[in-house]
Amino acid sequence: MAWRETTDPYRIFVSEVMLQQTGVERVRQKYAEFIEKFPDFPALAAAEQRDVLAAWQGLGYNRRAIALHRSAQIVVEKSGGTLPRTVGDLESLPGIGHATASSIAAFAFNAPTVFIETNVRRVFIHFFFRGREGITDAEILPLVAETLDPEHPREFYWGVMDYGTMLKKRYPNPNRRSASYAIQSRFEGSDRQVRGRVLRVLLSEGPMDAAALFEGLEVDRKKGEIILEKMVTEGFVAEESGKYRIR
Ligand code: ADE
Repeated sequence: MAWRETTDPYRIFVSEVMLQQTGVERVRQKYAEFIEKFPDFPALAAAEQRDVLAAWQGLGYNRRAIALHRSAQIVVEKSGGTLPRTVGDLESLPGIGHATASSIAAFAFNAPTVFIETNVRRVFIHFFFRGREGITDAEILPLVAETLDPEHPREFYWGVMDYGTMLKKRYPNPNRRSASYAIQSRFEGSDRQVRGRVLRVLLSEGPMDAAALFEGLEVDRKKGEIILEKMVTEGFVAEESGKYRIR
């Protein structure tokens, strides 16, 4: 995992955003390409949004790419490309919740932050909550705080995350016993799939009107237009005299 062989806050930042909702194997490949194209905060901040979205293709949940791009612009504008070090400041960036802010602070700055993500949750449920259901993160958090090695947070979380990955392969997923358990929604036939296709076609074919777009995609026109309008509102897509393009 290339992101474990660096302490460059930019690289850690990119990898943690990618790893939020995408598996390690897929992230490996995409991370390397992304870092080559956009090697630091200034390079990413200066990029065109469509180039960032193009580099994100294959990772899914494309809103993350837009948030990452905006974060880079904020980091460059506010502090000349230096990432803030505190969880509070990191959390104020778009697309960065408490867990991601904490993991960035731990991996980039070796800060002894206390946080729960899916693998951490799995390990603690497996170990400390045998036979229990409906376990809340509030119950798990104090145990993470107690077991964290305050001198070596980086290695502690790497170890816990790897252990969680192993548990997932060997046991019925302990996270089913978590109160915050949610299965990632089905992709086939979902709005997420349509959004991904719209993005891919507009990136590769350039601007086009809704009729041409949905004919090529074999998506119901009404359903398609609702999704497209949402993508306009969110800033993925711009509309100009009836034609849609990636912003
Ligand atoms: N290594 C560093 N961060 C990670 C993460 N979020 N998931 C898996 N491995 C990691």
